[in-house]
This record gives sequence, structure tokens and C-alpha cells, in this order.
Amino acid sequence: MRRRTEGQDSSGESRRSESRDADCVQPIQAEDQRLTYWSIIKNIGTCLLFIIAVPPFLNYASLQREGQLLLPKEGQILDVGLGQKMHLLCKGQGKPVVILDAPTGASSDIWYHVQESVAPLTKVCTYDRMGLGFSKRVMQNESSGTEKVWGMSTTGRMVDDLHRLLRAAEIDGPYILVGSELGTLNARFYSHIHDAFVSDLVLIDPIPEDVFEEDQWKEYWYGKLLPSLQARQFSAATGLSRMLIILGVMEPAITGDGVAEDVVQRQKYFLSNPAHQSSAVDEHYFLNESAAQVRDITKFKPLSTRTSVSVITGESFDSQIPEHLNQMVAKLQKKFLGESYPSANHVGIGGVDRRMIYQRPSVISQHLRSVVRQRQSRQQSE
Ligand SMILES: *[C@@H]1O[C@H](CO)[C@@H](O)[C@H](O)[C@H]1NC(C)=O
Ligand SMILES: *[C@@H]1O[C@H](CO)[C@@H](O)[C@H](O)[C@H]1NC(C)=O
Repeated sequence: MRRRTEGQDSSGESRRSESRDADCVQPIQAEDQRLTYWSIIKNIGTCLLFIIAVPPFLNYASLQREGQLLLPKEGQILDVGLGQKMHLLCKGQGKPVVILDAPTGASSDIWYHVQESVAPLTKVCTYDRMGLGFSKRVMQNESSGTEKVWGMSTTGRMVDDLHRLLRAAEIDGPYILVGSELGTLNARFYSHIHDAFVSDLVLIDPIPEDVFEEDQWKEYWYGKLLPSLQARQFSAATGLSRMLIILGVMEPAITGDGVAEDVVQRQKYFLSNPAHQSSAVDEHYFLNESAAQVRDITKFKPLSTRTSVSVITGESFDSQIPEHLNQMVAKLQKKFLGESYPSANHVGIGGVDRRMIYQRPSVISQHLRSVVRQRQSRQQSE
């Protein structure tokens, strides 16, 4: 839209005529000033309405179309009961089945590389937690009991969903359960209560439960991180995100040569999808609640001694988090691992931070492949 203020006009008429072809401002009629002002206001109003209403509308229309088109080919949408449907994506064949649970607010695409490189050995499944990715959240179903026990977007509920999803897909355990960040809370919760189903637990950048007891962490999480995610949700809802993606200002996290085009398109779709973004906000918002649930459950029901535990952490600090908070988290993480899983096999990876699952996926696949091989050879010898 082109607009010019009359004051800047030095060459008079010729300039003024230029403003006639401006998109929104109508030619000025000197005879009737009142009518002129009114029509200018009306036109500006129309323009504003256009700016406000059209992008969300176009975004919404595109989302409808993309939601159908972008579902991965091998992806299944399964009815998990309670009127809910979830997206499960399995690749490869064999046992034990590896289940990958994504970090806070992330869709299953984050495991793209890891899944591809472990699938030649065995069956590897990822899924979208309720509300994220292709697992659309439906309205609360009053008849279900779990909703009263575990609040929405908390670990207890997610574990319940995952358990029902695996039953619906008829995927038998024991599983190698792999989680990252919020995914580690889910994987731990699952392993502690359904211990007969989990042979190996792999924690990538586990969240120390006590971190939300720390004021400086709460300040960062609720005062800084959460508002930025809420802004992103707002930007998706207004269609701004879609425009920023088109302009190349906003970019998907997983890119590069080895990444399939549909994975890139899906990330763009999720960035512009307010429903996905809203669930991402919820998962972050209730992370303290999730951490508290896991702390209680693991105290109440210790892990079976048959379950092997390994931990992968990146040794570099997250550059998006202030230095002193990184140090605090690292200290708490060490303490928590020592107390909760003292015999875990701890693999520290130099030169990477928590984004390693898509930035350096090979270090994770390598570890997972060795866990799968060990379990397979043990099963053969039994
Ligand atoms: C609520 O859950 C029950 C039991 O699974 C199901 O029969 C019913 O259709 C659900 N209601 C809605 C509105 O989805
Ligand atoms: C989590 O944080 C929210 C917001 O700060 C607070 O209201 C809630 O009580 C916290 N929950 C737990 C379990 O600490």
C-alpha cells in the first residue's frame, strides 16, 4: 500500500495525482471537505479491516488444505478412545519397538533423522502428543475419568494417551522408550507405572524435577520464554506467521540437505497453525505440574530393576538461555540423575546442546542402535 502525506508534496498537482492510484485512499474532492475526511476515514477503516481480516482468513483456508495434504504417508490416525484421535508414525520392522517422545512443544518431525537411521534395525515409532502436530485435541469428554485426575497438557494425561495409542495400534512391548525434555518426563512416568512394557529407558536432556522450585528459573520460564511462545501463538492466529514464513523471516528448525521437502512444509504448517502453537504453550505452561507429577509417581513406584536406563546430555550450554541458568540446570541435573538413576549409563556429547536431536542426530542414533542391538542379542539368547 502506498500512501503519501500532502505536506511532503513540493511539486503540487502532479504528486497529488499520484496518490489517486494508491490502493486505499480515494481522490480528494476539495469542494466538500467534510465528505472528504469521512471518505478517507472510511477508506482507511476498510484498509485496516482488510489487513486485519484477510491474512487470518487466508491462513485458515490454507491450513484446512495443508492439514490433509501434509500428513506423512506412513502416518496413521488412530482412534484412542474417549473421542480422541492421534497420529502415529512407525517405520521399519522388528523388535523391540523403539518409541520416540518429543521435547516440549515439538511435533514428531523432530525425530525425522533419528527415526530414519534406526529403522533399518527395528520398528521405530513417533507420535504427536494430543493437540500437537496431527493429533487434534477435541473438546473435553466429561465421561472420562483420567481428565479429572490429570490436568490437560500434563504428563499423567500424555502417558495415558500414549498407552491407549499403543494399545490401539496393537504394538506389543517391551519397548525401548526414548524421550527428550518433556518427553523424558513422559518416558519416566510411563516406565515407572507400566514397567512390564519397558525394557530400556533412554533420557535425552532430562528435566531435573526440582528446577521449578528455583525462583530464577520460574522467572525465566514464565516471564520470558512463555510470553515469547504466546506471541508466536498470536502471530500464527493472525496469519502473521504465514507471511513471515513466505518472506523468509521465520524459518523451520529442521532444514538442510538431508531433510525431505514434506518435513520442511510440515514445520511451516505447524508454525502457522494456532492450534498446534496453543498446545505448545500449554505444554510449557504446565511443565512444572508435569515435573511434580513425575516426582510423586517415581517416589511412589520405583523403576523395575529389569529396566536399563541410559542418559544422553549435550555438554555445551544452550545459547538461548542465560549462562547462570545453564549452570544451575546442569547442577540440578547431575544431582537428580545421581539420586534417581544412579546406575544409568551416562553418555555426554561434546559440542552440542539440547538441539542435538535434529542438529547432530547421528550421536543419538548411534546410541539407540547399540541399545537395540544389545536388547536383540539378549532376546535371542533367552
Ligand atoms: C466420550 O467418551 C465416550 C467413551 O469412550 C464415547 O463413547 C463418547 O463418544 C465420547 N464423547 C464425545 C463427545 O466424544
Ligand atoms: C505451576 O506454576 C503455576 C504458575 O506459576 C502455579 O500457579 C502452579 O501452582 C504451579 N504448580 C506447581 C505444581 O508447582
